[in-house]
Amino acid sequence: MFDALTAQPADKILALMAAYKADTRTTKIDLGVGVYKNAEGTTPVMRAVKAAEKKLWETEETKSYTGLAGDPGFQDAMIGLVLGDSVPRDTIAAAATPGGTGAIRQAFELIKMAKPDATVWLSAPTWPNHPSILKYLGMPMAEYRYFDSETCAVDFNGMVEDLKTVKAGDVVLLHGCCHNPTGANIRPDDWDTVIEILNDRGAIPMIDIAYQGFGDGLEADGAGVRKVAASCPEVIVAASCSKNFGIYRERTGILMAISKEGDKGLMQSTLAFLNRQNFSFPPDHGARLVTMILNDADLRADWEAELEEVRGGMLELRQLLADCLRQETGSDRFGFVADHRGMFSRLGISPEQVEKLREDHAVYMVGDSRINIAGLNKETVPVLAKAVASVL
Ligand code: LMR
Repeated sequence: MFDALTAQPADKILALMAAYKADTRTTKIDLGVGVYKNAEGTTPVMRAVKAAEKKLWETEETKSYTGLAGDPGFQDAMIGLVLGDSVPRDTIAAAATPGGTGAIRQAFELIKMAKPDATVWLSAPTWPNHPSILKYLGMPMAEYRYFDSETCAVDFNGMVEDLKTVKAGDVVLLHGCCHNPTGANIRPDDWDTVIEILNDRGAIPMIDIAYQGFGDGLEADGAGVRKVAASCPEVIVAASCSKNFGIYRERTGILMAISKEGDKGLMQSTLAFLNRQNFSFPPDHGARLVTMILNDADLRADWEAELEEVRGGMLELRQLLADCLRQETGSDRFGFVADHRGMFSRLGISPEQVEKLREDHAVYMVGDSRINIAGLNKETVPVLAKAVASVL
């Protein structure tokens, strides 16, 4: 039976991680996978997470199963963090999932179950795992224009034109903030235009929010998803706690489905059913830490403060990189790096130039020229700028 298996396409981001690991050059710079790293190149456990873990160890009395949709306290805490009070709680069904990817997978399964012929529209480009999972599930998908490779900003006119062609019942996947892989984001007012079009077309927004707090702050980064939640009759939200709580390997995420007209009990039981079919009970350790942090004033204040340090550090690196690139190239070509938000920026250089950076300078970035800003520090920014200028 197993001899019928064929090799599956390698995930580009994970393949890059392996290539970086195998490189023996001591000067190598890792700008690949979307994991936050501090100036020393490590991914620390956040202070509030450590404190919550200690408390949990002291007080936890059982590791028996939680509910199929996870702990209701986690659902409430995450709904508060992501959606605030933009929409009545009794219109939201939610289920904990293994990470943000788990939430996306369950969301796609939900769409497939509700409307198998719905086309899921993805931004061009998007996180490569979005189309990969859709393809695996055999679901129809299409692309809307998003990134202007000339300006390295959002092609909002193109996006609007394309969204005006979506059909009733189609799903439009939007990035809540900190667009992955480009770092280019729509402006606050643009959300109103997108909402108007989707409502006009009868399309359903699905929002992937994996970097809340990494762009312009927790509140500002949640503003788009809140507007959508308040204004559209049906909304799907997939949120990740991997990055903003730094608990990548704990696999902590949540799927939320808002249905203002529908039967919420039915939606809640559907999400629980889908969890049962795929993995039964969701992981709880990370979810419990998140719940403790969000519900405890001191832990929450410390978490927010550390998240702000992380965000501020990335903004400084952005500005420094934009300045160094201006100096090295003698042009404003890379000025957008300072305007982008989140962990990523797409530099807009060719795959050959990306390859040359890897071979000649041990600089590892994704083939589409996506860099992880957090992979840099004040010493490596000028090195990167010089290297980029040398391959242009
Ligand atoms: C990324 O885009 O690098 C992250 O979301 C990690 C991943 O799983 O791809």
